[in-house]
Amino acid sequence: MTRWSDAAGKDSGESCHARMAAFAASGQDVHGEADFVTSLLAAGGRVLDAGCGTGRVAVELGVRGFDVVAVDVDASMLAVARRTAPTLTWLERDLATLDHAEPALAGGFDVVLVAGNVVPLLSEGTEADVVRRLASCLRPHGLLVAGFGTDLGHLPLDDVPVALEDYDAWCAQAGLVLRERFLTWDREPFRAEQGYAVSVHEHRT
Ligand SMILES: C[S@@+](CC[C@H](N)C(=O)[O-])C[C@H]1O[C@@H](n2cnc3c(N)ncnc32)[C@H](O)[C@@H]1O
Repeated sequence: MTRWSDAAGKDSGESCHARMAAFAASGQDVHGEADFVTSLLAAGGRVLDAGCGTGRVAVELGVRGFDVVAVDVDASMLAVARRTAPTLTWLERDLATLDHAEPALAGGFDVVLVAGNVVPLLSEGTEADVVRRLASCLRPHGLLVAGFGTDLGHLPLDDVPVALEDYDAWCAQAGLVLRERFLTWDREPFRAEQGYAVSVHEHRT
């Protein structure tokens, strides 16, 4: 049971999809994460979208010419993703048991993206291991890119389960070094009191 399934319930795929479609229709930018990855990586680069949900980011990255593999544990979210982009690689996997040696993941990734509050929505107690597993999917000098809330205003939860200091410590244990941190996906300077962080950690070992 992930914190996501606790908060969103079993059949969240269609409702999430409808909410995101309404955002896009109202003129809001729903591609900040894709723009951020595009700024880091040449076209054709390989991206793992970890906790891809309905595929909001993975589909856009595929359209932009990246080689994308997308993973989520929630079947209702993946059903929407598969319907939207049947030819992308969608894997129903729990990040807490992800195996970098499985054929679809072998060869590693230039970027592992963990967007949309996935880190605080993991199952309690699995976070450090998930970060270690994601790091093991990176190529040398590959980047782990994560965006998540650090206050209640930026989380769909009743508490704040993950502090940035903890996340940085899990990354360090996994051999990752903090390269950059921003407040937003469009690179506003990071300010801890604002309650959101976009972190870029590099695989240096
Ligand atoms: C708020 S949604 C974000 C979806 C997508 N990244 C986006 O930004 O549109 C959080 C997603 O994290 C996924 N998730 C949470 N824990 C997970 C786990 N242990 N393994 C795989 N996916 C997980 C949920 O199933 C859900 O689809």
